[in-house]
Amino acid sequence: MSAPMTQIILTDTGLSVPLAAGETYFNYCWLRDVCPSCIDPQTRERIFDVASLPSLPRARQAHIEGDVLVVDWQSEAQVSRIPLALLESFATRGRAEDPADLPRNLWYADRGASFLRVPQQAVLTDPAARAQLTRALIEDGIAIVTGMDGGKDSLPRLVEAIGPITPSAEGLFFDVRVEIAPTNLAFTAGPLEMHTDLPGEEAAPGVQFLHCLENSVEGGLSLFLDGAAVAEALRQEDPAAFHLLANNKIPFFYRHDNWDYRAHQRVIETDPEGRVTGVTISQHLQDAMDLPQTLLDDYYPAFVKFLKMMQEERFLVRFRSEAGNCVIFDNHRIVHGREGYVADSGKRHLRGCYTDRGALRSTHRVLAYQGFDGRIAPEPDLQRA
Ligand SMILES: [Fe+2]
Repeated sequence: MSAPMTQIILTDTGLSVPLAAGETYFNYCWLRDVCPSCIDPQTRERIFDVASLPSLPRARQAHIEGDVLVVDWQSEAQVSRIPLALLESFATRGRAEDPADLPRNLWYADRGASFLRVPQQAVLTDPAARAQLTRALIEDGIAIVTGMDGGKDSLPRLVEAIGPITPSAEGLFFDVRVEIAPTNLAFTAGPLEMHTDLPGEEAAPGVQFLHCLENSVEGGLSLFLDGAAVAEALRQEDPAAFHLLANNKIPFFYRHDNWDYRAHQRVIETDPEGRVTGVTISQHLQDAMDLPQTLLDDYYPAFVKFLKMMQEERFLVRFRSEAGNCVIFDNHRIVHGREGYVADSGKRHLRGCYTDRGALRSTHRVLAYQGFDGRIAPEPDLQRA
């Protein structure tokens, strides 16, 4: 390797390394902490405590050797060999590589119902198909599993291929059908306005499964939209309204005889980089707003504007839930609803449950490490064929 490429500048607090991304500074504590020797190969947990050193770590000498940065420390008999790939990742992305950190594909009405469809049997037995499903759920936030077998274990077997079932006040599962004494508007035949589920829970469920067991009623089309797409449209059209919804929390509840959940949520959820990661919306589970009344003078018009946008046809996809299908969607991003139906025109029964977003991403990462990244090969170029 040529001399300039290995020139490392040591300072009192850290060092600068020439990387493909350019010369990049790394703090000594951080470098000592990411030394691969800090991780126990058996448990894969951290076995080094930076606070156990008599003084903050400081390099005596450092150089590049092949694809690692070798750091010789001043106050301990320890040499760290840190992969340059890790340093490059932090230099370019600010964080470690993550196969589950995939950009969201925002979608609109013209997407139709062309979401990924994959048979249940493939999800359960073929890691390539399972990876396609987890990738679609991260990128599109929605996918449809077809050919669900009708047994009682059918839904739990599918969920557990993605992650453990997370319970809600209703238990591990809930049934969406007409009930005599409903605990939720979903359990009636009326229309169900666009919403995300259970915002009254401190951590609302992340991924929702709706397995259609039977559907022979007139009407009752399922409605879906990409809340992140609507939020981004609001950001374009009215940045001040977007800012209000992304930076203030409003109260939600879920209340019945034996429970009284309450939580505050941001209607538009963003990550530290300001990217929209989801939305929380549910007028039937929204509590009396408790923002200052004068702030509400600005908040309500923004909120109403966002609710009205969610009714615009440009965002809405509607399709009929077919018996044997299971729709899976990101409950923090995909807003769903239902048109009303004629209760005595037939039977409509959906069974649902949840897992969380962390479990979904975990499954996707493990599949990626096994060589299944879920990418679907592009269609052959017909013009060239
Ligand atoms: Fe729902």
